[in-house]
Amino acid sequence: MALTDLYSNLQLLLRWIHVLAGIIWIGHLYFFNFVNVPFQGTIGADVKKVVNPALIGRALWWFRMGAMTTFVVGLLLFVQLYMYVPGVGFGPSDLFSTADGMTGRAWWILLGMLLGTIMWFNVWFVIWPAQQKILAGVRDGTAVDPALPRRALKASRINAYLSGPMLFGMLAPNHYGGINLVTAVIAIGLGMLAVWRMINLAPQVGKEFAHAPGPAART
Ligand code: HEM
Repeated sequence: MALTDLYSNLQLLLRWIHVLAGIIWIGHLYFFNFVNVPFQGTIGADVKKVVNPALIGRALWWFRMGAMTTFVVGLLLFVQLYMYVPGVGFGPSDLFSTADGMTGRAWWILLGMLLGTIMWFNVWFVIWPAQQKILAGVRDGTAVDPALPRRALKASRINAYLSGPMLFGMLAPNHYGGINLVTAVIAIGLGMLAVWRMINLAPQVGKEFAHAPGPAART
């Protein structure tokens, strides 16, 4: 792999942008699920009105832009690696399929991409539309359809659970390769279990510096 090799340099650049944006996205997803959800239970409507539109509005910008960048660059990476043959043109490469059928690497990335795409859809078409209305309602002091926060939380929780197995689907193609039903089920189970543990841990941790203005804050 020569330093001037355009294919390799482009691939590294795409991988780097993809992972950087992925960290921004999933970092904010975890902030929402592990930090913000338990925190919101400790503050009243007056504090929410001041804090949420300003803080959550900013966090949501990084969240959805991170999601879109990760998704678009991820697709470009997919095309470069799996749907392009240098010197030949577009079409399935050896990484995607051989005479024996689809490769383990392709199965892994398709699993990861399926989960990542569901998550991207949830961000842009469920969470963000709901949050726009919720935050405007909080800011203006107007009533919000109670189904909206429930819908946003549900989609956010689904995304958190999917993120664990999704990451296996991102790492395994290049660093593991082989796949069968057992490895796929283990990846999905382990990924979800890790997130479940963190969601359960979240309300209990990091409270030692919090003020205790009222009974709600001590929960
Ligand atoms: C949203 C849909 C997504 C698509 C379409 C996508 C696509 C891809 C593709 C095609 C690869 C290359 C796989 C290979 O080397 O064979 C990849 C790798 C990777 N992706 Fe994603 N991805 C998505 C979401 C994410 C997210 C949310 C993250 C979170 C950080 C992420 C992190 C990674 C990592 C760490 C790698 C491995 C990089 C390496 O080993 O060099 N991806 N992704």
